[in-house]
Amino acid sequence: MAEKEFDTNNLTKEEKYAQLIVQIPALLDSRVDWVGNSANIGAALKEVFGWLWVGFYRKVSEEHLQLGPFQGPVACTFIQRGKGVCGAVWADKVPMIVPNVHEFPGHIACSSLSNSEIVLPIYKDSEFWGVLDIDSAQLNDFSQLDLDNLKLIISSFETYL
Ligand code: SME
Repeated sequence: MAEKEFDTNNLTKEEKYAQLIVQIPALLDSRVDWVGNSANIGAALKEVFGWLWVGFYRKVSEEHLQLGPFQGPVACTFIQRGKGVCGAVWADKVPMIVPNVHEFPGHIACSSLSNSEIVLPIYKDSEFWGVLDIDSAQLNDFSQLDLDNLKLIISSFETYL
């Protein structure tokens, strides 16, 4: 399929989110497990916003997150609790916006092209399940607007876990 599914080229970021949020229910399917649903959410975000890397890390033990479906350059397969931005979000259970990853102590650099990052925790039945991790090649690319809208998208995803 060569054409773009999401025609959002001339829209503002806010408008892109508004359009995407309307389309999210059609991307989530109760017949598939978390892999299919997270893959589609990640693909939609990457296509609409063009970020460097969009993907999921899932908790597989009390110590580690494991790489899930993603779009972008190859990434590290395991992240320890408390390590890097993802591990910090797991440990602190709060979303994190990192305007400049080079200034974040312990940041795990999967790609040298990444300059800013946003990570949100994901819950299943009130238990920490994993994270949505997004990297941008631009410095300071994420704001409260992203946080608010990505929270809505994650909330929809959580209902399918
Ligand atoms: N930068 C992340 C690691 C994952 S990659 O960005 C895909 C971190 O510090 O947790």
